[in-house]
This record gives sequence, structure tokens and C-alpha cells, in this order.
Amino acid sequence: MPPNHFKKERVLAKEQHVARRRSLRRFVRKKQKGIPDRLEKVTIRHCAIGDEAALSLLGQATFLESFAGMLDGNDILAHCANQHSASVYLSWLKQSTFGLWIAEIQPGNAPIGYLVIAPPNLPIADPRADDLEIKRIYLLSPFQGTGIGKRLMQEALDHAKHYNSRRLLLGVYSRNTNAIAFYQKLGYKIVGERKFKVGHHEYNDLIMALEI
Ligand SMILES: CC(C)(COP(=O)(O)OP(=O)(O)OC[C@H]1O[C@@H](n2cnc3c(N)ncnc32)[C@H](O)[C@@H]1OP(=O)(O)O)[C@@H](O)C(=O)NCCC(=O)NCCS
Repeated sequence: MPPNHFKKERVLAKEQHVARRRSLRRFVRKKQKGIPDRLEKVTIRHCAIGDEAALSLLGQATFLESFAGMLDGNDILAHCANQHSASVYLSWLKQSTFGLWIAEIQPGNAPIGYLVIAPPNLPIADPRADDLEIKRIYLLSPFQGTGIGKRLMQEALDHAKHYNSRRLLLGVYSRNTNAIAFYQKLGYKIVGERKFKVGHHEYNDLIMALEI
């Protein structure tokens, strides 16, 4: 091949590299600019009977997204089928001791995240009658890290204060370092451990608590 050909290929490769870098910079700038717009368009509301299908879809989508690559795939699928069915959410929506919230994005009100508060079901050494448990808090991945989780946790705190609860508890998978850091940032402390069954296997969870 003539030497000119190699020269042309090198120039072309360099141009492609520069174009890729430019495109990446454009993407990052666009993403950074998009975050405040997106945040303003996210509303959070109390759930009611009729929201069970949306909660089930969100529950399954976010559980799969969060734990694919971390937990066994069949366990994830079994857990989604059993613990995130519309009938599970409907039974929670019917119980006055449960609180459920959903985050939705405009336009269109598509669901992007949710929160569930329930009477505690955690093996702790010093259970109190007024304890409440944050049973679930999940966001779809494009909406993580933009303050929506903190807004949902504020709903949990307001709810707990309204019902004169003095402590919020939660269980979190011990390898879910992002969620643990998030809870710690909001003042939650590790107070215990539990085993949590997902599908056919048991996984190690931490129990965390916030004194109100
Ligand atoms: C965990 C989750 C709900 C947090 O919500 P989020 O919207 O991503 O978090 P926010 O942007 O509201 O963060 C709130 C604060 O925590 C901090 N934070 C969040 N993640 C963090 C991390 N991994 N490390 C350190 N700090 C973190 C933020 O910096 C922010 O601090 P600031 O108030 O000083 O700005 C969300 O990321 C999620 O759905 N993750 C996947 C599902 C999951 O793991 N759920 C928990 C199951 S137990």
C-alpha cells in the first residue's frame, strides 16, 4: 500500500477521535443542563387504590435495575414475581398503617420512583411501639443522584413526625454501598443486621435507624 494511504488513515482516525471527544463533551454538558429542568418536573404524591399496577411495574423495574449483576438472576425474577405483584401493592394500599408515595415526571406523569412506609418487621434488639420502617425507596436509574431520593425521605420523615414516631428503621443489602452512603448522609446509623430472602437465597442486610 502506498505510504499516502497510511497517512490518510491516521488523519481519519485522529478526526474520529476528536469528534468522539466533542460528542462526549456535548453529551455531558446537555446532561448537566438537563438535571435542573428534570427536577422541576418531578412531583411526588400519596398513592391511592388504583396505583397498584404502576407500583408493581416500578417495583419490578427498579429492583431488576438495582440488583442485576449483584444478586442471582433467578432470585431477582422470583422476588419480582412474588414481592412486587400488583396484588401485594393493592393489599398495602388497603392498610391504613402503610404509607405509599409515587414520584412522577412531566409531561405525562410517568412514574419514576416510589416510597413505602410500614409497621416495622425487622429483628432489632430494642423494638419500640412507635417505630416505623422505610420498607422500600427506589428510583429509576436516570433519575438517581438528582435529589429526588432526599425528597422522598423527607416525606417519610414528615409522615413519621405526623404519627409521633420517634424512630425510622430500614433494611439495606450490605453490598448496596450507594444506598448505605445515601442513608448515612441523611443521618441514619447502622444498628443491626438481618438475613433477607430473595428468591431461593438469603442475603445479608444491615439495619439502619434515624432517631427523630
Ligand atoms: C438510594 C436512592 C433512593 C437515593 O436517591 P437519590 O435521588 O439518588 O439521592 P439524592 O440525590 O437525593 O442524594 C441525597 C444526598 O445523599 C448523597 N448521596 C447520594 N448517594 C450517595 C453516595 N453513593 N455516596 C455519598 N453520598 C450520596 C447526595 O450527595 C445528596 O447529598 P446532599 O444533600 O448534600 O446534596 C437512589 O439512588 C436509588 O433509587 N438507588 C437504587 C435503588 C436502591 O438502592 N434503593 C435502596 C434500597 S434499600
